[in-house]
Amino acid sequence: MTNNAVYENDSIICVTGETLRPGGFLLTERAILACGLEKNQRVLDVGCGMGATVKFLRDDFQIEAFGIDPSEKLIKLGKDKYGLPLDIGKGEILPYEDSSFDAVFTECTLSLMDSYERAIREIYRVLKPGGFFIAADVYARNPEYIDELKKTEVKSCLRNLFDLGTLLNKIDDKGFEISVLEDWTSLLKKLMVEIIFEYGSMAEFWKVTTCGNCEDFKDKLTLCKPGYFLLIGEKEGE
Ligand SMILES: C[S@@+](CC[C@H](N)C(=O)[O-])C[C@H]1O[C@@H](n2cnc3c(N)ncnc32)[C@H](O)[C@@H]1O
Repeated sequence: MTNNAVYENDSIICVTGETLRPGGFLLTERAILACGLEKNQRVLDVGCGMGATVKFLRDDFQIEAFGIDPSEKLIKLGKDKYGLPLDIGKGEILPYEDSSFDAVFTECTLSLMDSYERAIREIYRVLKPGGFFIAADVYARNPEYIDELKKTEVKSCLRNLFDLGTLLNKIDDKGFEISVLEDWTSLLKKLMVEIIFEYGSMAEFWKVTTCGNCEDFKDKLTLCKPGYFLLIGEKEGE
């Protein structure tokens, strides 16, 4: 598989800005309000990229926010530019104490992990009782072709579209009560339109990012009908 990750590529940064996901801060803000997050609460952004959400939570809501991401390149950008409290690491092994956060965000990140099940267990561990797990990510509106899509060779979250039913079961089994589940496919469509405006076509975008010739990926992706969701789960109380 190619080592060029789409999310580390300047070609996507120039379309999305520092939030490397559909919708920018729209769903972040929606989740903050839905969870009633307040000043001085402790929040972790897993897969924080350059730390755009960490900065937003700190500047606009005075929330004590932290971020973690395995990309040295993206963490360095966020630290050098804004001096944010960002760690290098993976969602599957969080270097934080049990019950130490009021909320954990994963924004377009869970789909990129080697083991999202392990990350969900870790997120549950570091959340305080009654804490919130907020996930926005990609899913297949037609999950029938997910396995075929996974066999393709592109380092983008779009290769790992979730089967929403399976994901919900895993989150529920871990002990989260799901309070919000919303479809935001419109944001993914909007991002694709913005990419087409910037590059002329999606094909041209894939060419300048990771895969000029990955027809197989494009075909399977179309069959899967990509969508985008926002989900909020609450950890069981004491
Ligand atoms: C599409 S970007 C989203 C970044 C950020 N959440 C945002 O919305 O701007 C996906 C991020 O997931 C990170 N990532 C990949 N594998 C990960 C893992 N195992 N644990 C945590 N983050 C991971 C990538 O380094 C990248 O920064």
